[in-house]
Amino acid sequence: MGLFITFEGPEGSGKSTQARLLYERLQRLGYPVILTREPGGTRIGELIRRILVDLRHTEMAPTTETLLFSAARAQLVSELVRPYLKTGGIVLCDRYADSTFAYQGYGLGRDLEELQSITTVATGGLMPDLTFYLDLDVEMGLQRKRSARDRLPEPASAAAAFTPHPEWNRLDARDLAYHQRVATGFAELMRRDPDRWRCFVANQPVDLLAEQIFTQVEPMLARIVRLENPR
Ligand SMILES: Nc1ncnc2c1ncn2[C@@H]1O[C@H](COP(=O)(O)OP(=O)(O)O)[C@@H](O)[C@H]1O
Ligand SMILES: [Mg+2]
Repeated sequence: MGLFITFEGPEGSGKSTQARLLYERLQRLGYPVILTREPGGTRIGELIRRILVDLRHTEMAPTTETLLFSAARAQLVSELVRPYLKTGGIVLCDRYADSTFAYQGYGLGRDLEELQSITTVATGGLMPDLTFYLDLDVEMGLQRKRSARDRLPEPASAAAAFTPHPEWNRLDARDLAYHQRVATGFAELMRRDPDRWRCFVANQPVDLLAEQIFTQVEPMLARIVRLENPR
């Protein structure tokens, strides 16, 4: 029941931009749809997110990081994703379990089978129907995020400088080699499960990319009942 679509890819590849555009388009067409993100998406999950992205938390152990992501995911699946899919709606999620395999698995070197077990506990085995991968050169993505960060005003106080920053966080700040291992990891995940993934070149105009994404979603909408009184 329902339709579960996720967006994956390196930092700055346009996941949030494209997830929002797809969300707005489906909403305009009258489909029941929600947009959420990981880590976060619930009250508890957003609190966990603040711990994860805080630049001060340099001492965080990889196991702690993995379990915090998984805890936020467990809350999201149980509070939001499963109930909404059950009503026959469309759930769009900005990152999901694949990011755990790519970032904590390939990026930090955690054992992949162990991650699979933790992920199964967190999600009850729920995986997306469709996953978009926005493929962008790692350096270009980080550059996009850096310039987005630099466009924001300077924090007013030293304390504010440590609050979770919407455009630059603890995970972005890891070195280039780490981000490249993550990208290699995503390529491997796509190779293993080609039916679920749709990979697009992210370095093209926003609207063109949105069109390519919608074209992939359209055939799957037949099973979704539109709202009687669209917003
Ligand atoms: N297709 C695109 N071409 C150029 N810049 C883009 C494109 N898509 C998004 N951006 C910009 O790149 C930055 C990162 O986009 P965002 O959607 O936040 O990426 P992500 O969620 O994958 O980190 C933002 O400043 C956004 O405006
Ligand atoms: Mg984003």
